[in-house]
Amino acid sequence: MEQLKKAIRERGKVLSDEVLKVDTFLNHQVDTHLMAEVGKEFALRFKEDGITKVLTIESSGIAPSFMAATDLGVPLIFARKKKSLTLTDNLLVSQVYSFTKQQTNDISVSKDFLTEDDRVLIIDDFLANGQAAFGLIDIVKQAGAHVSGIGIVIEKSFQPGRVKLDEQGYRVESLARLHSLEDGKVTFLDETVS
Ligand code: G4P
Ligand code: NA
Ligand code: NA
Repeated sequence: MEQLKKAIRERGKVLSDEVLKVDTFLNHQVDTHLMAEVGKEFALRFKEDGITKVLTIESSGIAPSFMAATDLGVPLIFARKKKSLTLTDNLLVSQVYSFTKQQTNDISVSKDFLTEDDRVLIIDDFLANGQAAFGLIDIVKQAGAHVSGIGIVIEKSFQPGRVKLDEQGYRVESLARLHSLEDGKVTFLDETVS
């Protein structure tokens, strides 16, 4: 998606060979116009798939998912990372290991919002090691629902998440695929010369 790649090039900051900072439009300040376009693009790519729910994870997954769910005409559910006061039982729970934080956290979704009739589009802001995606997939499976596909805003193709999802046969639609962040420079997968 050209508009997204332009934002990454012009407003992103390469922090290291592995980390891209996009606080200017995605992870802190939100460019609502760009996120609406991102959401529309996801909706377009999955419009023939009979999606009944969009599932993401708080907090940074919510903004890019909002317009996808709106355009598909289905509810948006975000998995919670913290235990809620009002949401204590009746939960689907999965464990997500964060390589960055080196800790395992529970993520949860109420059983009320995912049922075996659902066809679910999973959306997240980044795909790195795939831990969050596999946690969300696990939750969908626990509900007996179907994973129709995975929409990712920024895929770090040099990390193992994408390959692992491909190997398990999931359809992954990433709107920007990063080939490398080496030497402080962003290169996209579709720009590499072979
Ligand atoms: P994984 O789910 O693919 O395995 O990712 P990992 O554990 O490596 O990442 C943990 C957190 O860091 C996730 O956000 C993920 O979206 C984010 N992340 C991974 N790589 C990058 C990167 O290059 N740049 C930025 N900005 N974020 C990255 P989170 O902790 O769940 O936080 P949030 O959704 O509340 O923002
Ligand atoms: Na994040
Ligand atoms: Na995230």
